[in-house]
Amino acid sequence: MSKIVYLNNKYIQFKDAKIPIEDRGFQFSDSVYEVVKIIDKKMLDFDFHMRRLKYSTSELNFNFKVNSKLLKKIFQKLIISNKLSNGIIYLQITRGVQSRDHAYKKNLKPNIIVYTAKKKFNLPNKDFRGFKAITYPDIRWGRPDIKTTSLLANIIAATEASKKGAYETILVKGKKITEAAHSNVWIVKDNKIITHPANKEILKGVTRTVLINIIHFIGLKLIEKEFSLKELYNSDEVFITSSGSLVTPITQIDSIKINNKKIGKITKALALSFYKSIT
Ligand SMILES: Cc1ncc(COP(=O)(O)O)c(C=O)c1O
Repeated sequence: MSKIVYLNNKYIQFKDAKIPIEDRGFQFSDSVYEVVKIIDKKMLDFDFHMRRLKYSTSELNFNFKVNSKLLKKIFQKLIISNKLSNGIIYLQITRGVQSRDHAYKKNLKPNIIVYTAKKKFNLPNKDFRGFKAITYPDIRWGRPDIKTTSLLANIIAATEASKKGAYETILVKGKKITEAAHSNVWIVKDNKIITHPANKEILKGVTRTVLINIIHFIGLKLIEKEFSLKELYNSDEVFITSSGSLVTPITQIDSIKINNKKIGKITKALALSFYKSIT
């Protein structure tokens, strides 16, 4: 855990950071967040995160104007104070405090929380690992494209994975795959890379956006389209992307082995290209 956190214009000790019990983020998950990766002391893809934060706060009509310059300063200060080399910065913005009522009032004052945590990333240049995933029904609310802390369905799904010794939970809606509990999902079939389109049914991952640019640059074939559970099981390769997992191979899904449990060539090449682009 970080020693110093940022809370509403103040840098304070982690243990001293407190939020009122009628904060709407606490009571209703009426709040949004971003997770920004730090690798070798470098803050990555900051502008993409700010763009998505603007989207989340405006879709939910928060009384909050994203000040990227100020947030960048806060993040940089915390990286230095907490001596962070590899890890994440967690930013959460709640709608604010109001006496308990489902309907929100206009012009509440948001609570802004920023802290850091160390993290060991799964890097393709050293001890690169493939992991097991399970599948689970996608029971989330109808707007997973907004990065809210309303994550009950995600945490139920993630806990199922944890109970079964799996790294991630791939979410199934009807017959199709949307994404995973905390990452985007990609399959490779006959050298074509396939991922769910960035619409209202998934979170448009920052890592996903960056990787799509890399795929186009390398000249591989990408198709953004829906795919089924059957296609997932029959894939040549499967991988997930997120700020915490970067590009991480999935080599088993439920009881099905993918690529005989070996990391696929395309997955490895993409993970390496992604890693090169950030270091
Ligand atoms: C549901 C979900 N999808 C996708 C992602 C990947 O997003 P990003 O690449 O911006 O971390 C996340 C990240 O937390 C997530 O929670």
